[in-house]
Amino acid sequence: MARRKMVYEGKAKILYEGTEPGTFVQYFKDDATANNAEKKDVIDGKGVLNNRMSEFFMTGLEHLGIPTHFLKRLNMREQLIRQCDIIPLEVIVRNVAAGSMAKRLGIEEGTKLPRPIVEFSYKNDDLGDPLVPEEYIIAFGWAAQQELDDIIALALRVNDYLSGVMYGVGIKLVDFKIEIGRVVEGDFQRLVIADEISPDSCRLWDIQSGKKLDKDVFRHDLGDLADAYTEVAQRLGILQVNVTQPTKPTLIN
Ligand code: TMP
Repeated sequence: MARRKMVYEGKAKILYEGTEPGTFVQYFKDDATANNAEKKDVIDGKGVLNNRMSEFFMTGLEHLGIPTHFLKRLNMREQLIRQCDIIPLEVIVRNVAAGSMAKRLGIEEGTKLPRPIVEFSYKNDDLGDPLVPEEYIIAFGWAAQQELDDIIALALRVNDYLSGVMYGVGIKLVDFKIEIGRVVEGDFQRLVIADEISPDSCRLWDIQSGKKLDKDVFRHDLGDLADAYTEVAQRLGILQVNVTQPTKPTLIN
């Protein structure tokens, strides 16, 4: 059997050459990192949960006509995705002040923002993914003005979708990060939502109790990360709760 070729290894995922031209296999690892990989651990089952949750969100976006890189889930830890050129930006949407915004501006975490705010970080681990203004993005050629306008519109549509889905299961979408890729289709190039959408890249708070159900649990040692992610997956109906397997064959009349 031929060994497949690894294309890229990141902190939480590995990309392999895909089974068909123009595709990659995206493998979800159990590794968790925070603070630019200063804090590291292996969380049993995280990759499996994130693979399923990312499939769930990407499929939902596709149903709304929002293009993504997702093609199909292959197994517990892998999905087939479209090859794309990743724009070197972390696109962050915030509904509520938290994390780096709360710290930078001295706003109390949990303060509702007057409207969703889209911001950009330049994807560069050596520099710690610095926040960048739109001017930089255009001036340094990371994206064209029209693309940037489209990215903002896409990010806000993803925010509407994710906020609604989460609200429906009693969770507040505080903020999230997405990455955007360019896919060439004939003479055209279009933008797709790439990477992953999972509790690794969102802040999710239980609406009733305010309990954190995202990677902040790991960042700030607040409890068991796999339990938090399992709760999100269960609420979304991705994982069944208390499934009882029949122990012997049962006759169906
Ligand atoms: P921040 O408050 O640390 O800037 O993060 C905002 C949101 O973006 C939060 O949901 C975490 C997510 N995020 C990532 O997933 N990866 C990153 O590298 C960064 C900077 C943020």
